[in-house]
Amino acid sequence: MSDIRIVIDGKEVFVPKGSTILDGAKKLGITIPTLCHLDLHDTKMVNQTASCRVCVVEVEGRGNLAPSCATPALDGMVVRTNTMRVLETRKTVTELILSDHPKDCLTCSQSGECELQDLAEMIGIRDINITGNEMSTYKKDYSTSIIRDMDKCIMCRRCETMCNNVQEVGALSGINRGFNAVVSPAFELPLTETVCTHCGQCVAVCPVGALSENDHTWKVVEALANPEKTVIVQVAPAVRVALGEEFGHAPGTIITGKMVTALKQIGFDQVFDTDFAADLTIMEEGTELLGRLGRFLAGEKDVPLPILTSCCPAWVNFVESQFPDLIDIPSSAKSPQQMFGAVAKSYYADILKIDRKDLVVVSVMPCLAKKYEADRVEFSVDGNPDVDLVISTRELAHLIEQVNIDIDELEDSEFDKPLGVSTGAGVIFGSTGGVIEAALRTAYEVHVKKPLPKIDFEQLRGFEGVRAAEVDFDGLKLNIGIAHGLGNAKALLTEIRNGNPRNFHAIEVMACPGGCIGGGGQPYHHGDSSIIKKRMDAIYQIDQDMPIRKSHENEAVMELYDKYLGEPMSHKAHDLLHTHYSQKDKA
Ligand code: SF4
Ligand code: SF4
Ligand code: SF4
Ligand code: FES
Repeated sequence: MSDIRIVIDGKEVFVPKGSTILDGAKKLGITIPTLCHLDLHDTKMVNQTASCRVCVVEVEGRGNLAPSCATPALDGMVVRTNTMRVLETRKTVTELILSDHPKDCLTCSQSGECELQDLAEMIGIRDINITGNEMSTYKKDYSTSIIRDMDKCIMCRRCETMCNNVQEVGALSGINRGFNAVVSPAFELPLTETVCTHCGQCVAVCPVGALSENDHTWKVVEALANPEKTVIVQVAPAVRVALGEEFGHAPGTIITGKMVTALKQIGFDQVFDTDFAADLTIMEEGTELLGRLGRFLAGEKDVPLPILTSCCPAWVNFVESQFPDLIDIPSSAKSPQQMFGAVAKSYYADILKIDRKDLVVVSVMPCLAKKYEADRVEFSVDGNPDVDLVISTRELAHLIEQVNIDIDELEDSEFDKPLGVSTGAGVIFGSTGGVIEAALRTAYEVHVKKPLPKIDFEQLRGFEGVRAAEVDFDGLKLNIGIAHGLGNAKALLTEIRNGNPRNFHAIEVMACPGGCIGGGGQPYHHGDSSIIKKRMDAIYQIDQDMPIRKSHENEAVMELYDKYLGEPMSHKAHDLLHTHYSQKDKA
């Protein structure tokens, strides 16, 4: 594509055909404020609704102002971003948005992260001269994972684009007109009664406090203050490479040791690692994969292949509601979060000689779907959940601030034993491609009975939404598929439904862009996908630096099998570590 030349504020710039004026301005380092626009590069997330008009500019020869985010740059175009007319319009537009917006910034969950707040600050709005009715017709919609407060919705429609175009779930759409216009599930149903997967990606892109996580931090504080409870915490792999961002560190900064110290200072009795449970997941899922493959190679006809990974609860929700005919092909292995909870409330409670009801299991997750998952009835025993409380990476950061811990001042600590012992295979669960790579590291050595010639399966890594690779198991060729983002997963599942023409044997799916590193509970990326890539690099760096990088070499996991479970896929392992799926009929 040949470049085209435009001039912005007297400066010449060349941009590829198809670029917008905003792209040109960014290339020149000229800041044009935006609000509704969002371009998460390398994903399908481009919101070009041009609904807010904050980004208007003057284009020579054009009568009206142009929204720079949605106006194509044309050869020879001359643009001004800072005329009086532009500045006045921007100010008026922002005042109009603020005029019917609730003024509860002091208590809003998004305060400090709100793009509308930042815009008002940038434009220098001190008084709102336009008065109007504040919208108050919408009740808050609470689910275990997400709260919708539609009085705060500014109709940017980013959530709708994310849910419909990227995730292809279709839970949200614009309804009503004028002041009552809002993005909502059909018939204004609560999210829990819809096909929503609770992936939280709409929350990740909402610029204001209209969508937020259901915050469980205070319940954690209450549990910690209860002397009758033993409170343990598990931390998911993706948290350690993102938490630092909340404290001003560069994306991808690894702060595992300080995070563990902070959790100990907060008062958790033991600080454990979900990576331990990820290694355990591999033992179960890898064995299941080899079992199904063995039957297939022996000529059995009805073997459910390809096996699909099952560690992402949003993905599981998606299959249950949108592909019920394929419900028998995901692995029956529980997610690492739930495996951890099940083991903690049985094996570990036995070690402590306490009743499971006196043990509180808290998870720190990059994920909002994990809040929903922990609440599923099948993950509880006599009403006592395997995982009691789930907080996000953002919530942990707030908790650390609340209790006055200066994380930068802390020394490093190690996770506690035994449920904090892990391998490099466990940590790469946090990234797209990581789960299947971890599974193959173990499955190869179990099947071939020789050490892997090379631990890294680089052909499985990357940021492409759908990837395919062939892996050689000493002559046995396995076709592996990988998808991140539910829209990409849908494409692969549709292929499977149509006869699996590429002969996939195993497919990994994660609902979020980049996998859990881009989860709905992570620090806000504000549309900068390079942040997610830096977290990915950090995940692989941790793996690289681990002394043990294969799940079947995790001594604590082996001890769990020796002392408690027997062997992978044993009767006891099946009872504790596997689950079943059922069709969900939702709107
Ligand atoms: S809920 Fe948030 S993301 Fe969705 S339209 Fe409203 S303001 Fe935009
Ligand atoms: S949580 Fe995910 S599936 Fe649910 S509405 Fe938001 S983007 Fe859609
Ligand atoms: S990809 Fe990870 S963060 Fe996203 S919904 Fe799935 S488990 Fe949660
Ligand atoms: S940011 Fe361009 S119209 Fe909203």
